[in-house]
Amino acid sequence: MAGPFLTTFPRRRRVLAVPVVFLLIWAFLPIETFNPPRRVLFGITTALAGKSTSDILQFVDPLIGTVNGGHVFPGATLPYGMAKPVADTNNYGEAAAGFVSDDSLIQGFSQLHDSGTGGNPSMGNFQLFPQPGCPEDNFTRCSYVVSERATSRINGSATARPGYFAIGLNNSIYVEMTATAHASLFRFNFPSEAEVPYMYAASSGESIPRTVPNSPLIIMDIIDLGNSRSGGDVKVNATTGRMQGGGKFRASFGQGSYEAYFCADFRGAEIRRTGTFLHEKATDSVQAIGALYSDVRIPHGSAGTWVQFVSAPKNQILARVGVSFISAAQACLNGEREIPDFEFSRVVTAAEVVWQEKLSVIKADHTGLNVDLLKTFWSGLYRTMLSPQDYTGENPLWQSDEPYYDSFYCIWDSFRAQHPLLTIIDPETQTDMVRALIDIYKNEGKLPDCRMSFSKGFTQGGSNADVVLADALIKNLTRGIDWTLGYEAVVSDAEEEPSDWSVSGRGGIESWQTLGYIPVDDDDRKGTGPLSRSISRTVEYAYDDFTIALMARELGHKADEAKYLKRSHNWKNLWRPDYDDHYRDKATGTIQGSSWKGFLQPRLRNGTFSEQTARMCSPVYEQHVCYFDTRHSTYEGSPWLYSFYVPQDMASLISLMGGPTSFVERLDYFHSSGINYMGNEPNFLPTFQFHYAGRPGRSAYWVHQYIPSLFNSSIAGIPGNDDCAMGAFSAFAFMGFFPVAGQNVYLLTPPMFREVSIRTPDGKGWTTLRNANFDSEYTNIYIQSAKLNGKQYTRNWITHDFFVDGGVLEFVLGPKESEWGTQKEDLPPSLSTGTI
Ligand SMILES: *[C@@H]1O[C@H](CO)[C@@H](O)[C@H](O)[C@H]1NC(C)=O
Ligand SMILES: *[C@@H]1O[C@H](CO)[C@@H](O)[C@H](O)[C@H]1NC(C)=O
Ligand SMILES: *[C@@H]1O[C@H](CO)[C@@H](O)[C@H](O)[C@H]1NC(C)=O
Ligand SMILES: *[C@@H]1O[C@H](CO)[C@@H](O)[C@H](O)[C@H]1NC(C)=O
Ligand SMILES: *[C@@H]1O[C@H](CO)[C@@H](O)[C@H](O)[C@H]1NC(C)=O
Ligand SMILES: *[C@@H]1O[C@H](CO)[C@@H](O)[C@H](O)[C@H]1NC(C)=O
Ligand SMILES: *[C@@H]1O[C@H](CO)[C@@H](O)[C@H](O)[C@H]1NC(C)=O
Repeated sequence: MAGPFLTTFPRRRRVLAVPVVFLLIWAFLPIETFNPPRRVLFGITTALAGKSTSDILQFVDPLIGTVNGGHVFPGATLPYGMAKPVADTNNYGEAAAGFVSDDSLIQGFSQLHDSGTGGNPSMGNFQLFPQPGCPEDNFTRCSYVVSERATSRINGSATARPGYFAIGLNNSIYVEMTATAHASLFRFNFPSEAEVPYMYAASSGESIPRTVPNSPLIIMDIIDLGNSRSGGDVKVNATTGRMQGGGKFRASFGQGSYEAYFCADFRGAEIRRTGTFLHEKATDSVQAIGALYSDVRIPHGSAGTWVQFVSAPKNQILARVGVSFISAAQACLNGEREIPDFEFSRVVTAAEVVWQEKLSVIKADHTGLNVDLLKTFWSGLYRTMLSPQDYTGENPLWQSDEPYYDSFYCIWDSFRAQHPLLTIIDPETQTDMVRALIDIYKNEGKLPDCRMSFSKGFTQGGSNADVVLADALIKNLTRGIDWTLGYEAVVSDAEEEPSDWSVSGRGGIESWQTLGYIPVDDDDRKGTGPLSRSISRTVEYAYDDFTIALMARELGHKADEAKYLKRSHNWKNLWRPDYDDHYRDKATGTIQGSSWKGFLQPRLRNGTFSEQTARMCSPVYEQHVCYFDTRHSTYEGSPWLYSFYVPQDMASLISLMGGPTSFVERLDYFHSSGINYMGNEPNFLPTFQFHYAGRPGRSAYWVHQYIPSLFNSSIAGIPGNDDCAMGAFSAFAFMGFFPVAGQNVYLLTPPMFREVSIRTPDGKGWTTLRNANFDSEYTNIYIQSAKLNGKQYTRNWITHDFFVDGGVLEFVLGPKESEWGTQKEDLPPSLSTGTI
């Protein structure tokens, strides 16, 4: 029996010491538990050559980014799915999405999560937790509260695939899970012996070996990961074991709260007894707790229901957990409708089919690429479809026929690459997301910059939903989008300051309109919000206004177009040509820096410049002092970084920076000096901005510096929290183009595949990017010449119709930079050159 165990224990590190005692415990588990599809084990070798075909899912490793701050959700989910079950760990600093690939303890298996977010854990509501039995067969002696029940995992046992997650607990239970849109399905695998040895994790922190009579007990704790619940109700039906309940929880990076509900049903074993628990006290005489059922308001912390079974005849118990934001009754309906049969493998297969289909819009020639690169690409692509989450039909806030998406977490991160990617690979969903954003404007008065759990999230910089809407309009997303209302929404951002602009819209609108910049000493009387970030808000407002101008042009609002184009020059008002790059090195006390001059700098209302060290908030100098509520003039980045953020007029910026040669040297210095931090989304575009100075080859060069060294297939393989955007960066880079979000512009670099094709939105054709002289060692990374549908093509950028109409773009590659894409007429458009 050890044979199947070892060969099918599927994760990395399985050869490292798994205590022998475990082999024995595990040996008693049913063999089918350890029977992952053969393709997981053998598929990798067969797929190495040739085109990606049917079984692309083998290259998706959801565990990438589950340490090192990636905060990725690796559990079971459908694309944009609401139900997101996974194991929740107690490493709260890292467990933003529940699971962490380290040695932290597993405290439960909850139903709702947000993937890739920064900061605190988000959601993690309704934690199921199984125990094989209770000491002395006394249910009061089982563990109920998080701190007591948290159990170590079997090292290396975490297994994740699209639609499936599993992990072995050190209490002898192997837990598998899968999901539909609004329901999780768990398969708890119990040992078969009558007396089960297991490691009891005592609250003292000690692990005490025990045996318990085989009589599984499963608890449902209505806690969330952030322990933010207030109130709530929960009950269990003593006959059927059905559990229902809900509570009120706090939004993780925003204002306000939300209510969530669940409904759990069990199959596979006879019920012995049921009950409830409040903190560590469990009873079998009370079957319902909370204000709905009694005078007792459930206090903070662990509380919920439990059901104890006689030992399961097939050593498996299934738990179906429907979720809802409307009511527990709707949670029950969701579970019943989506998983009527409790067929675990059917649900897994259905999820695989959906993911397979989503990813089938891309065909890549895998020739020569190693498995690490393939996994980096496909897993990143997969992650771009985890969130925003589709909560259509689950919005308790207003009635609407529009789709409702939530977990725009945050648009400041996602507008740059994720939404433009979805526009190409999943335009239907991107269209629905745009409609949801406009419907949020209609019902809440403003577009969000960040939104999670039906709550307003904090605005990090500008009103960047403006860019998302502009991008969609320019790229002809139309189905059902009310562009009149959409335009009203972006104009509202630009013109009407909300009383609390920390969660929507913009602050300092009067200064913006009169001074043309956000002064560092702004005395904004119209609304309240953190008066920091004067540089980053200025450049973001300028770009947001630019994209509004593009919308105005598209929609025929001539006067608005002129007005917003004018404001889009406002970034220049913070340009301080003499400001240099010096700082005091903390370690040596000496003045360090470079000879680069000219940076965006904070400015007072009276016009006099103030200062912020150009490298402040970069990895080389005081990186962690520029957040939402800190006082500096930039947000999560340095003046060095923000001084490149002029996507609307790179030509002007390049001349301010001393012309193309100087600009290229300066951008190279930015990338090579440690000032750039690829773990954050504003740092994506500067990788490709060499294009604007006629050096597309330098962009290609830097792409290869970052992939795979910072974006790779290890569990630590994402340089910062994912926000579903890090994967979009690598996906674009692999495919050979990168969007200038909000414009009809993609900057071209050679695909990292010999050839890659993307299905056109009508589903009928393909857009192909192909390399001649491709070598998988990436020696030939420079475009020598290009042909678009057979005709010479010298522009270093391309427009969206290429992806709509289909066609073939062929590059000839070489080991040295060439003349290709370097001439004035080859450059991407800029305002000041009259090309926009
Ligand atoms: C179960 O344990 C509790 C607390 O340890 C004890 O009070 C109770 O008597 C026990 N029940 C039985 C049936 O032994
Ligand atoms: C699990 O394995 C990793 C190495 O793969 C090791 O660092 C860690 O200490 C192990 N944890 C336990 C609890 O054995
Ligand atoms: C798991 O339990 C075994 C005994 O059953 C114990 O020896 C081991 O230390 C435990 N592992 C962890 C990681 O706690
Ligand atoms: C438990 O469920 C059964 C079957 O649906 C139902 O008939 C019974 O009334 C329920 N019990 C309680 C206490 O609600
Ligand atoms: C602006 O205000 C600052 C600080 O109060 C002062 O030092 C500076 O001289 C003023 N500049 C002008 C032009 O008045
Ligand atoms: C993979 O990426 C991570 C995070 O960016 C990085 O720390 C690590 O060094 C990379 N690994 C390899 C082998 O390049
Ligand atoms: C959008 O549609 C219009 C009209 O059909 C067309 O002229 C334009 O080229 C399209 N734009 C893009 C980016 O596909």
